[in-house]
Amino acid sequence: PRSIWLSRHGESEYNLSGKIGGDANISERGQMYAKKLPEIVKQSAGDLELTVWTSTLKRTIQTSKYLPFEKLSWKALDELDSGVCDSLTYAEIEERYPADFKARDDDKYNYRYLGGESYRDVVIRLEPIIMELERSENILIVTHQAVLRCIYAYFMGVDQAKSPWMEVPLHTLIKLSPRAYGTQEERYSAKI
Ligand code: F6P
Repeated sequence: PRSIWLSRHGESEYNLSGKIGGDANISERGQMYAKKLPEIVKQSAGDLELTVWTSTLKRTIQTSKYLPFEKLSWKALDELDSGVCDSLTYAEIEERYPADFKARDDDKYNYRYLGGESYRDVVIRLEPIIMELERSENILIVTHQAVLRCIYAYFMGVDQAKSPWMEVPLHTLIKLSPRAYGTQEERYSAKI
């Protein structure tokens, strides 16, 4: 592909309360990002007709609502499954599952939540998405932090083991343009 556009969903109610996972709605600020996104995308992609890929979770679908393009939701784009820790804050996880909390800190890439997934698991389930992406043009992906880190690492040629620490802030559109000599990157942050 010539370029790929990536964004996390707008701020969710869970982002506000510090809870992980879940299927929360976007917050008021998240709504503001959703409303601004078409304009930011236009700045970056001009008149290109994009196709939007979201996860099946409400926050990515709500974030894409105002984009005037065809949309497709993929289960494979859902956030890393945090199993028994879903809907907890990091402080609650540390309190209830101290050994797990430490194990994740020691090896974040391989650590698999009880009843959930690791980053390594996410990389594997993203394979069909990456394959489809490689043979598509003009795709904008609206997804989640962990998933976006893995897609980003893939296109930037970064070792997947480093994906858990990639910087992908909220309310930022990332444009990646794979080239023979490496992937070019531009970021547009929505000031909201
Ligand atoms: O907090 C938002 C979130 O997308 C959670 O749903 C998810 O568990 C987490 O980020 C992933 O980030 P990390 O791997 O750094 O915990």
